[in-house]
Amino acid sequence: MKVMETIREWMGRGERGPEEAGDYAQLLTPGRWRLPGATSREEQAWCEWAGAERFRGEGCIVEFGPWLGSLTMPLMVGLLRNPRAGSRTIHTYDLFRWEPGSNGWAKGTPFDRLYQPGDSFLPLYEQLVAPFRGAVDLHIHEGDLSRADWTGAPIELLINDAWKTMPLMSGTVQRFFPSLREGATVFHQDYLWCTESWIHVGMYRLRNWFAFERRLPNSSTVIFRMTKRVPPEVLAGFAGLADMEGLREDEVDAAFDWSLSFLEDPEARLVAKAGKGWLLHRMGLEEKARRVFAEIWASPDYAHPFYQNQERTLRDWGFGKLM
Ligand SMILES: C[S@@+](CC[C@H](N)C(=O)[O-])C[C@H]1O[C@@H](n2cnc3c(N)ncnc32)[C@H](O)[C@@H]1O
Repeated sequence: MKVMETIREWMGRGERGPEEAGDYAQLLTPGRWRLPGATSREEQAWCEWAGAERFRGEGCIVEFGPWLGSLTMPLMVGLLRNPRAGSRTIHTYDLFRWEPGSNGWAKGTPFDRLYQPGDSFLPLYEQLVAPFRGAVDLHIHEGDLSRADWTGAPIELLINDAWKTMPLMSGTVQRFFPSLREGATVFHQDYLWCTESWIHVGMYRLRNWFAFERRLPNSSTVIFRMTKRVPPEVLAGFAGLADMEGLREDEVDAAFDWSLSFLEDPEARLVAKAGKGWLLHRMGLEEKARRVFAEIWASPDYAHPFYQNQERTLRDWGFGKLM
């Protein structure tokens, strides 16, 4: 036990840059604010910490899918008190169109039923981020990210909450990842959201150039660091990962084995397994998918609320026959 603690402490030290102070958890004070959004206090605290402590301004921050800015704003709060940041540039990309599910996230907030599906919420996002714009160079890009281009400027931190489809993953890896600086941080907000589990396959393909950093508790977020530049031909290979036909069963097996080799929290492991079951189902491998769910049900951690929330979502979205 002592050995494991020492290793964890050592790993914790290793993940910090030369002047990074402490850890995001120091910002999780009792009563800490949580901005309305589809993110948890832990995710918001991590973004504030990263803006204040990790970010150097040697590249910029790119955020995919900010919605109402519940991560954009903590990033900017952090940047405001970061004396080391050479420049403070953020690029955010979103369709800025209210979705049918958006009212679920907005429930109980001042934004509840403010819009109908299809309405633009860009004016609201602009209003929310306005107080920071003098101090942070914020560029807002409205439109479909699967067609967005990137200038080629170096990227130091990528916050990704928009790999909702395989073409989005495939396109953004090909266009944005060549600009990730060595040491860049990639924050995958949906790594543990089982209906976007192609992210495991994508990161598995990049495993030789990225290291797992941590999973944020009470969230679906998993964070990686880029250890060395990814060869261009590997990134170009994502062109073949734009749909389910691009997925091979042996690669899917290997990808989830890889994720399970670093995910320790029992509820995170169950959600990763459910992600595998869901992906196998989408690939038409029904029997194998059912076996994965049978294994999940046999788990002593099956009742964990984090996992149960995902299973409920799968049932609500019509995947009940899988289980
Ligand atoms: C779950 S929400 C993100 C929540 C957000 N990170 C927060 O802080 O609350 C997903 C976002 O991805 C955006 N999105 C989905 N598909 C997109 C696409 N093709 N191009 C750009 N944005 C997209 C949606 O408009 C939505 O704002």
